Amino acid sequence: MTHRRPLRRLLPYYRPYRAKMVTGLSLTVVSYAFSTAGPWFLQQAVDAFMRKAPTARIWLLVGGMVGVALAGGFFRFLMRQLLNSVSRWIEYDLRNDLFGRLEALDAAYFARHRTGDLMARLTNDLSAVRMAAGPAVMYLTNTIAGGTFALLFMLRIDARLTLIALLPMILLPISMIWLGRAIHHRFEAVQDHFGRMATMAQENISGVRVVRAYRQEEPEAGRFAALGEEYLRKQMRLATLYGMMHPSFQMLAGLGSVVVLGLGGALAIRGTISVGAFVAFGLYLGMLTWPLIALGFVINLFQRGAASMGRLLDILDAAPDIVSPAAPRGLPPTAAGRTLEFRRVGFHYPAANGAAPRWILRDVSFTVPAGATVGIVGATGSGKSALLDLVPRLFDPQEGEILVDGVPLRELDLDAWRREIGYVPQESFLFSDSIGANLAYGAADGSTRDWAASVAQLASTIEALPDRYDTMLGERGINLSGGQKQRAALARALARTPSVVLLDDALSAVDTQTEAEILEALRTTLAGRTALIASHRVSAIRDATFTVVLDEGRVVEQGAHDTLIAAGGRYWSLLNRQQLEESLETA
Ligand SMILES: Nc1ncnc2c1ncn2[C@@H]1O[C@H](COP(=O)(O)OP(=O)(O)O)[C@@H](O)[C@H]1O
Ligand SMILES: [Mg+2]
Repeated sequence: MTHRRPLRRLLPYYRPYRAKMVTGLSLTVVSYAFSTAGPWFLQQAVDAFMRKAPTARIWLLVGGMVGVALAGGFFRFLMRQLLNSVSRWIEYDLRNDLFGRLEALDAAYFARHRTGDLMARLTNDLSAVRMAAGPAVMYLTNTIAGGTFALLFMLRIDARLTLIALLPMILLPISMIWLGRAIHHRFEAVQDHFGRMATMAQENISGVRVVRAYRQEEPEAGRFAALGEEYLRKQMRLATLYGMMHPSFQMLAGLGSVVVLGLGGALAIRGTISVGAFVAFGLYLGMLTWPLIALGFVINLFQRGAASMGRLLDILDAAPDIVSPAAPRGLPPTAAGRTLEFRRVGFHYPAANGAAPRWILRDVSFTVPAGATVGIVGATGSGKSALLDLVPRLFDPQEGEILVDGVPLRELDLDAWRREIGYVPQESFLFSDSIGANLAYGAADGSTRDWAASVAQLASTIEALPDRYDTMLGERGINLSGGQKQRAALARALARTPSVVLLDDALSAVDTQTEAEILEALRTTLAGRTALIASHRVSAIRDATFTVVLDEGRVVEQGAHDTLIAAGGRYWSLLNRQQLEESLETA
């Protein structure tokens, strides 16, 4: 996505800090008013000295010079404090908006964007935008204020000389525009590339076990070095531009000085201007040089900021596809679970540009009565996970619809609906927090925690942990086994006391003995709740009210355990094979 004038989108972020910003910018003007008065005092002092004026008067002028320099410095300090704090606050607000937006985006968005790249945007790009929002604005104001004051004093000394000194500056806007545009593009390339490096680093860190097991450390390091080299080259290309900018702006200013020395010197000798004026003029021109060089820096910062802001707008302007309807319908409270009806549901993931979609689910119809437990079985890849993902609306189906107590899902308030669901995804994910906090995640209060842990057969495991419920998980704590993680994820879902429970192969890493215990405990727990239990193991769903058998996204059989066994179809052969595998394992 390309955004026109991305930095404009920063304007609303200034609003809360308007007063600070205006004060800061005014202080810039004040501080330069003082600073540029310095050479004027010098001019008076030199001329007074040439006139052999009384020493007291010269001292007074020197004192004035010191005074204005001090005052200028003091106001400049205040100004920097103010403007820097504004840029930090804007960064803070922008970061929160970015995070909030990421929290709102759909699963489909994260399937398209790599974690490392998003992290790079949240850090590197954000800081480039902050540099544009604060320091660049500050330097620009400095340049304008400093330049204007210096110019005014110069015009006062000699208008013609000033105009001639400024003649080389005609080239300035042309080179500014050209260099600015080039910096923008090259910086964009640098940041994109950094996103790729961050992605690679992130994947290597989270996939460290695979890298080790496959002995891919060296090839990975090699690939990373190659990416790094490319990054270096892109940075160098960028640095070349900046390197060109600095001396060329300096040269323009230098040309001005040459003119002033020659022409101004002649004027001073002829007596058209005083020696003091000549000295002061030289100082003012010097004062103009610094803002000019700073201008190069400012353009650089703005272009970098604009390129990065574009990358942030990719996030800020992304809209979730799955949202609550404008006028959502409510569901009456229930203690008996919900009726879930799948009506000719067809689903596919977003297809690549132009490609025909590959249907993952097709023509799926069945009804889960309130309070029933329905099993979903099928080989891996048959679409069980996809089917469950449709219930909390992680994705929406392209065909047909799903109804809850007769109301289409799309017409429900999304938050209210999701609050009713206890979802245990196939890949259990726990946060780097205490196990207690993980179990209480999203629960109304902590009162259900112990109960949920005991249903998930996790209570004794937690008792054995060093700090029980306060034991930290993940980076700063212990790692749970796959089966323990799955049970924790199950307990977390139950602690919300959901009316609809979705288990996606949620016990696949739990041993059969524990699985049986959990299922036994679940049976009483699930009374009065609607449950969909997807499993590639028939053992997990043999007590279900009935079971739906999926094959390549289509329902090929449905019925209760005994009926399906009697039918001798897909379910029967699946069960037979798994029983055979089990007896081989235990033999
Ligand atoms: N993000 C995705 N994009 C495209 N295809 C996907 C995606 N996730 C899963 N699939 C495909 O969807 C099909 C069904 O997968 P899934 O629902 O996970 O099956 P199951 O849970 O029964 O093993 C598989 O063929 C899988 O390759
Ligand atoms: Mg699955």
